[in-house]
Amino acid sequence: MNVKLTRREFLIAGTLMTATVPLWLPSQETAPVNAPGGRPPEQGTEGPTFHHRVTWMGDPSTEAVLSWTTRAAGKEHRVYYDTESRAGKLEAYAQKQATFKDGQYKYVQADEAYAKPGFYHHAHLTGLKPNTTYHVVYASDGDASREFHFRTAPAEDVDFTALAGGDSRLGKETPTVHVDRRKMNERMRALFESKDENVLCLVHGGDYCMTAQWRHIERWMTDHELTTTADGRLLPVVPTRGNHDSAIGFEEMFSHPTLDKPFYFKTQLSPKVGIVTLNTEISVAGDQRDWLAATLPAMRNANRWLFAIYHRPLFSSVRDVQDGAGRRNNWAPLFEANNIDIAYESHDHALKRTVPIRASAVDEKSGIVYFGDGGLGVPQRKPDTTRWWLQPPGIAQAAHHVHTLKFTKESLRVQAIGMNGEVLDDYTAKPRDLAALAAEATKKH
Ligand SMILES: [Fe+2]
Ligand SMILES: [Fe+2]
Repeated sequence: MNVKLTRREFLIAGTLMTATVPLWLPSQETAPVNAPGGRPPEQGTEGPTFHHRVTWMGDPSTEAVLSWTTRAAGKEHRVYYDTESRAGKLEAYAQKQATFKDGQYKYVQADEAYAKPGFYHHAHLTGLKPNTTYHVVYASDGDASREFHFRTAPAEDVDFTALAGGDSRLGKETPTVHVDRRKMNERMRALFESKDENVLCLVHGGDYCMTAQWRHIERWMTDHELTTTADGRLLPVVPTRGNHDSAIGFEEMFSHPTLDKPFYFKTQLSPKVGIVTLNTEISVAGDQRDWLAATLPAMRNANRWLFAIYHRPLFSSVRDVQDGAGRRNNWAPLFEANNIDIAYESHDHALKRTVPIRASAVDEKSGIVYFGDGGLGVPQRKPDTTRWWLQPPGIAQAAHHVHTLKFTKESLRVQAIGMNGEVLDDYTAKPRDLAALAAEATKKH
């Protein structure tokens, strides 16, 4: 078996590193991008399998999609997995799962100068045990990865943290080493590795790259490897589609057999924490609105914490306020009627927390707070702090950030964490008194 190590694995291996891999570090955004092998050397030395990832939708307590990339099409692609470490000995793993989807990432002429073609592989693991660490090896024909691991979501009502963020692109047509995205990924790894945080996954609000074409997404997936912990724990991603993710490469990068709508779906992170992921890149009325109206009541009843995530904001921090009118008209009444706890937005490229909003006005008692607006490395913009929804206790500033959503029985604490680990915003919600809100609503009618 020919197992090669990535640059980070060499870093872990320590002494091996200098013997085999020239150590390049990006000095600035203009570091060389067209290196032999098709990948910037400072972004890692690929093995026969790379971009090892986990995607969550549906019920991540029992299922997950494990995805990876190879340079050749190959014939047989499998994930080997077990609840105990088997140190990479394939025959020792209790279970294996063949892929459900393989193919070449769409390769256009513009990609040729920057990346060799790549092939995607997606395996759907089902029947998993909740709240359990699975040790996994990604194997394509005779080549296998190192052993990684990931943890399934809990089936019990336990406390945990989800990371939330969006917008990890650079505004350039040609791929460039994305220093700030990499720093934010390092920040997310630090949070993921922190014993105080108990991070389960990343909920990404969209705009991964300038386009969802191979030369860009290849680098996003390479940079995403930086979120993997030193001991090989993979950070599952719940993806959202943004306006820069319209190309087919997005669907080649994130694939899940349970997805039966155009990228809107629900995910149950625990028995009491539900997410509704919406798609702002198709009609926000029609089928999607009908689905939202049909989905929210049951999710509200089942969950202590319910939040919605989507790309373009209802209550933006930077762009023209009229831009959000269609989304506000179609979705806000449903969010409010179903008393979702928070909404998570991206796209504007600033850090924001709105005042609590209901019926287009401040409502301190039962309003919905909207967080955002995309800070996972995209250059930040100056927000318009004169808007009514950004007044105190709301905030708005230009700052790279990722949010930690800490779900407990007593509270939902939302903190914005800056690139250097500083706390930029700190908000705590209490569980809603749904009976009282329903009584209030009946009184008004
Ligand atoms: Fe964006
Ligand atoms: Fe966007």
